[in-house]
Amino acid sequence: MANTATLEVNGEKHEFPLVKGTENEVGIDIKNLRSATNGVVTIDPGYKNTGSCESAITFLDGEKGILRYRGYSIEELAEKAEFLEVAYLLIFGELPTQEQLDKFHKDIKAQSVVDEDVRKIIDAFPKSAHPMGVLASLTSALTAFNPSSVNVNSEEDMYKAIVKILGKFPVLVAWTLRKKQGLPLDYGDNSLGYVENVLKMMFKQPNCEYELDPIVVNALDKLLILHADHEQNCSTSTVRIVGSSHAGLFASLSAGISALWGPLHGGANQAVLEMLEGIKADGGDTKKYMAKAKDKDDPFRLMGFGHRVYKNFDPRAKIIKKSADDVLGNLGVEDPILDIAKGLEKEALEDSYFVDRKLYPNVDFYSGIIYRAMNIPTDMFTVMFALGRLPGWIAQWREMRLNQEPIGRPRQIYTGETHRPFKAIDKRS
Ligand code: ACO
Repeated sequence: MANTATLEVNGEKHEFPLVKGTENEVGIDIKNLRSATNGVVTIDPGYKNTGSCESAITFLDGEKGILRYRGYSIEELAEKAEFLEVAYLLIFGELPTQEQLDKFHKDIKAQSVVDEDVRKIIDAFPKSAHPMGVLASLTSALTAFNPSSVNVNSEEDMYKAIVKILGKFPVLVAWTLRKKQGLPLDYGDNSLGYVENVLKMMFKQPNCEYELDPIVVNALDKLLILHADHEQNCSTSTVRIVGSSHAGLFASLSAGISALWGPLHGGANQAVLEMLEGIKADGGDTKKYMAKAKDKDDPFRLMGFGHRVYKNFDPRAKIIKKSADDVLGNLGVEDPILDIAKGLEKEALEDSYFVDRKLYPNVDFYSGIIYRAMNIPTDMFTVMFALGRLPGWIAQWREMRLNQEPIGRPRQIYTGETHRPFKAIDKRS
């Protein structure tokens, strides 16, 4: 294969080097495009064809349905690893030894207290506030309580910031839920594992012990692993671009949480469940909603279907679908919503509209059903996604800073008015 690509602009030919990844992906390096062509830029709305960076964290092949963190397949990690091991792997590049994992967990636990004044901020939010808005605000507020900036040239400084956020974030997640439910803002129990502690912090009632259900613990651990990273998606790109201005880690993460909130991204898990509930309330007629999804004059989309990158199947959806069956079976939950979901999936997989457009169920199609079985309120689903995605965002932010990437600053093609004289107010119509 040639090592360059040739581009002809205004009759002049220009050569650009090709960049090849370890999985043989090829990119055209256009770093010098503007200088070589006297200001010509590329236009790529939604960055469908644009690689924003070189990254060694996550590989995915949308055609083949492959997802790997640092070379390990998502299927193997979901089956054999724990969430904290996966977090370590994503952030530092290798699976931890037992000793490294124990130290990592100990250091995270040592940081699992948040400033008492954070309670005052939570108190100021109305109970009706969306948990994602609250979580983004609280994460941003952590910057105020931990103002020292991270020296990215110091591995020690970087490590401290990482364990700090991994320790405090689950507390913010739990308090976001507890505030909504009118429960006291308690801490968890540092003698427990990371995921067990998250559950206890979220659900412990003030007047009784909280009993951990291994089925729920295992299911949540798996869900968090499946969500832990997904290369340059909307929220991750947001974290990298905010961080590229040398804004701090917590501020960058807060921006990522806001990006994740949208229903076309992480907010889809909430949107899926609301859609399924709507279909149920409307008599369970899946065919009617299939027709709406296909109707170009109807804004309705089948939430949880389709993916920017996966055009064959989402490997996470396969794992999660099985997990949903196991969890509901083991917990003895019979959920008519699951039947509606299965019905919709079957119809869509046989329908030429969805088949031709390569629209398959994505990770969020089934995750909400599991969260529901765990008694997690619908508007907390995306918060759970954020908890899972946290290590991925951290890993991507760290990589971006260590690679000394330049500030993210895209160009545009201006399509507005050309120069015109100022019009006095009495002359305007
Ligand atoms: N229901 C109905 N039609 C759809 C759907 C859907 N869920 N998704 C895409 N289409 C159609 C589009 O209307 C378009 O049709 P056309 O070619 O006739 O105009 C075609 O499929 C391509 O869709 P695009 O929106 O161009 O695809 P894009 O890659 O930009 O969007 C996205 C991907 C945002 C995920 C989209 O499929 C969608 O909106 N899905 C529903 C929301 C969702 O589940 N989001 C979660 C994604 S996973 C995650 O972020 C964790």
